[in-house]
Parts: sequence; C-alpha cells; structure tokens
Amino acid sequence: MRGLILAAASVAALALAGPAAAQAPIVIKFSHVVASDTPKGKAADKFKELAEKYTSGKVKVEVYPNSTLYKDKEELEALQLGAVQMLAPSNSKFGPIGVKEFEVFDLPYILPDLTTLRKVTDGPLGARLLKLLDSKGMTGLAYWDNGFKQMSANRKLVTPADYKGVKFRIQSSKVLEAQFRALGSIPQVMAFGEVYQALQTGVVDGQENTWSNIYTQKMHEVQKFATVTNHGYIGYVVVVNKKFWDGLPADIRSELDKAMKEATAFGNGQSAKENEDALELIKKSGKTEIVTLTPEQDAAMRKAMEPVYKDVATRVGQPLIDEFMKETG
Ligand code: LMR
Repeated sequence: MRGLILAAASVAALALAGPAAAQAPIVIKFSHVVASDTPKGKAADKFKELAEKYTSGKVKVEVYPNSTLYKDKEELEALQLGAVQMLAPSNSKFGPIGVKEFEVFDLPYILPDLTTLRKVTDGPLGARLLKLLDSKGMTGLAYWDNGFKQMSANRKLVTPADYKGVKFRIQSSKVLEAQFRALGSIPQVMAFGEVYQALQTGVVDGQENTWSNIYTQKMHEVQKFATVTNHGYIGYVVVVNKKFWDGLPADIRSELDKAMKEATAFGNGQSAKENEDALELIKKSGKTEIVTLTPEQDAAMRKAMEPVYKDVATRVGQPLIDEFMKETG
C-alpha cells in the first residue's frame, strides 16, 4: 500500500510541474472514512463549496468519503507523502504517527457536553495541540465535531460486569484500549471501514461510536443492543499537508482559511442534531434494542472506567490531563 501511495504522490507532483500548471486549478484531495451524510461528511462538502466559491474556481476540492481512497492509517501516510492534501481523522488516530496527546480527548467521561469541549478547542490548549502536528509534516486547521459515543454489542450492556470477555473494535488509541481493559473486555484495533463486516461476521462482538456513524454504516443492523452511555467523544482534527499549505499563494490561503472557518461553524452547529436524528432513525428501524441506564448504573460505569486516567497518565502526560480537566472542570 505504501508503494501505491508513493506512486499517487509522484503523479500529483508531476501534474503540478506540467506546462498547464499555471492555468490548472489547485486540487485539494480531501479523503475521509465516513459517509457523506454525517457531521464530518457534511462539513467537508461545505468546505468544498465555500473554497471553490471564495477562490472563484482557482481551487478545486475533491472529497473522497467512506474510505473510498484510503483507510484510517493509510490516509495519514498518504497525507504525509502528499498523495492527498486534506483529512479530518478523529482525535483517536494520531498515536500511530507519534502524536499521543490528542488521545486526551478519549478519556472516559472527560467532556460533559459540547460547550465544555469548545473551551478546550477554541482556547490556547487547543491551539497548542494543533502545533504538535507541524513536526509531522501537517498543519492543523480546525476542530470538527462528531459527538458522543455509545456502546453497542450483541449482548445487553448494562453493568460493568456485562463487558467482561466481550471483543470490542477500537480506534487506534491506547486510551481506548485501556478503557476496554478496565472493563475486562478484549479491545481490537480496526479501521473504520472494516467494522461493519467484522460485526456481521462475529470477528468482534461490539464497538463504540456515535449514533450518526452507527446509523450510516448500518452497524445497528448487525448489533442486537446499543446502550446510551455518552461515555466518550469523537471529534476531528482537520489537517493539511504542511508543505502544500505553506506553498500556496497567500491570497488563496486566506480565502481557504475563511472557507474553513465557515465550514467549521456550519458543521459544528449541526452535529448534535445529526446524532439525535440518527438515534431516532435507529429506533424507528426496530433492528436494535436501545438500552438506557439508571443514574446508579451510569455511576457504576463511570467508576469502572476511573482507573484509565492513571493507566494512561505516562503516555498522554499527567500535566496535559490536569490542564485539560482544569479547562473543562
Ligand atoms: C471511527 O473510526 O470509529 C471514527 O473515528 C470514524 C470517524 O471518522 O468518525
């Protein structure tokens, strides 16, 4: 796959150097792994619309949804090699390229709501975290929301004991691994594009995700139960290849900045509703039983996951966890 990515990167470089380069539009390939009809999918399409409008067609944005171009790990490599220019991976997916700090967003129950999240992403801590990406050949442009995660499985998940021995698909985050280990489950890292089939064939028994991802990937059709836990958050960092971004004419970059700002406001303004609507559609389908927890059951889940904070302190950094909790507390 690395060979393929390299080949694509050199074709892109050749295209830029050709004689028609002066007139040809600047192409931004934006690859992502979710459906178009999701918070990220809609924000990406909005960015395309605005970027092309504000640059009067000097920039063309090609959006490739649903892992059609690359899966999770490959897309980050492709961005670093310049085969694509823009991505929006979840906070949980930067560990494999050596940026572990975004995994702080994965800590169980660390964010009570989206307003609190905004304090971090719109503040100095959010800006500092984006800067960490520079050394990896990427520029962090924005934070996009999805929403809060829920648990699903073929077993009814109510108490922490129900999680024992259950195989869960996880994103590539050590915090998420620690979270499921704390529950006595068996976590398994897997690309998003492979989850449906893994659930269908029983390679894993369950997964955690937002309602919009569960619905648009049809996971509810292959999971008997989904429990309303809101135990974690999925959000995205919009990243662009740094060399590409720095090499853009300044006037174009500033129009793209404007388009990104507006697409971010648009996407983040509707993500909560997207997830509410998806939950309603899942309920209406009648394909999965939605389980709600009593306050006591919710408290038991929180307690069971508490040890995760200590388990990952060295990896994520205790000072970062403290700062994050101060901002959100
Ligand atoms: C997942 O892998 O479950 C999510 O990060 C997918 C996404 O991009 O929302």
